[in-house]
Amino acid sequence: MDVYEAIRERRSIRRFKEGEVSPEDLEKILEAAMMAPSARNMRPYEFYVVKNGAKRAEIAAISPNFRMVKDAAAAIVVCGRLDIAAPLGHDFWVQDCAAATENILLQAKELGYGTCWCGTYPVEERVEKVSAALEATKDTVPFAVIAIGVPDEKPAAKGFYDKTRVHII
Ligand SMILES: Cc1cc2nc3c(=O)[nH]c(=O)nc-3n(C[C@H](O)[C@H](O)[C@H](O)COP(=O)(O)O)c2cc1C
Repeated sequence: MDVYEAIRERRSIRRFKEGEVSPEDLEKILEAAMMAPSARNMRPYEFYVVKNGAKRAEIAAISPNFRMVKDAAAAIVVCGRLDIAAPLGHDFWVQDCAAATENILLQAKELGYGTCWCGTYPVEERVEKVSAALEATKDTVPFAVIAIGVPDEKPAAKGFYDKTRVHII
């Protein structure tokens, strides 16, 4: 599967089967995350891979929107590092984290895994609770929780292309 296909066939997966993400695949996925573009190449992020079942259940309980984290093989939590980002003087870390998150979804898709991006930042309550679950320092801000695992559903590829949103000037 190439990038063209991964982009067009990726869907959010909210049901997972038994099965792990192999350490080799996990490394490829995290490498893809860190290959994403980053403002002034500051790379103000940190990645937590939550495999522990009790910890995943704790994160799943934070919001009904996070429920699929419980049955996933792991949750990858993409976090911003405010202390690294601070010298830039802009909140570009949010975009850096979004780019890294999307790379994770696409690399995982290519490797045959399902993912669901669970929005965390800027919902304060979610940020606080995920941060507590990770026991992260105050400079480490959870941006997104990504449920990842072996998919147990196959939603059809959708076409969202809308020519009316394109303005060629
Ligand atoms: C910023 C962001 C936050 C999201 N948060 C959640 C979430 O908390 N729970 C969830 O089930 N899906 C979440 N999603 C997934 C969207 O619901 C999904 O991408 C959208 O419905 C389009 O479906 P698709 O991913 O299958 O193409 C989020 C997506 C984004 C980009």
